[in-house]
Amino acid sequence: MASLGVNIDHIANVRQARRTVEPDPVSYALLAELGGADGITVHLREDRRHIQDRDVELLRQTVRSRLNLEMAATAEMEAIALRIRPDMVTLVPEKRQEVTTEGGLDVAGQLEALKGLTGRLQDAGIGVSLFVDADPAQLEACAASGARWVELHTGTYAEASWQQQPAELARLTEGSFIARSLGLRVNAGHGLTYQNVEPVAAIAGMEELNIGHTIVARALAVGLEQAVRQMKALVQNPRRDPLFGSTSS
Ligand code: PXP
Repeated sequence: MASLGVNIDHIANVRQARRTVEPDPVSYALLAELGGADGITVHLREDRRHIQDRDVELLRQTVRSRLNLEMAATAEMEAIALRIRPDMVTLVPEKRQEVTTEGGLDVAGQLEALKGLTGRLQDAGIGVSLFVDADPAQLEACAASGARWVELHTGTYAEASWQQQPAELARLTEGSFIARSLGLRVNAGHGLTYQNVEPVAAIAGMEELNIGHTIVARALAVGLEQAVRQMKALVQNPRRDPLFGSTSS
């Protein structure tokens, strides 16, 4: 059964729209935990467009589940992670102009640098996960990096047309199988919604889904605690029949 990491970056987005003090993502992390979040995820971006350094510091003190810090593989972020010591670091690619993380990390293309960073973080007792596309060459590089986890990028699956979605789901299923046979543990995330999450949650060996935007969007209608509760029910008990029932007899 997969667990649920709740990404609260979009709470901070609302605050930063006015550069004020509300809503405070630190308080909302508590509500997410009350709704059943198994972990809280934040992305501290180089440009600080949503989550701020102060948020990460306070979350380290207040989160009672697990704190997962998404960050770019830079010297600045490494120093912050080693000081704050989240439970997990998820290394992601980062581009200034992007609206959100686009595509997975090119682990194969920067293997030596990532090996070093992963080793230093793990030596400090921080788990390391690499956010990658479900591509066999990238997964092999992840195993070679020494990282224990991968987070499979589900954005292409989430954006696919309904005709394409079964093929994208198959790619994620195969990616999870390959990763596990390489000794890696498997998380997934990006673009998952209440409508498309169940087939991904049902993939064999899936440990954790990291989900943000759709939960914060629903929270506007039903409150964050309830929105997390509703997502957790889908993640924990996904329909087992194939994608949207399309192949059931
Ligand atoms: N996982 C990673 C690595 C991400 O970068 C993001 C977006 O910040 C998410 C999960 C959550 O994506 P979404 O907000 O689309 O649920």
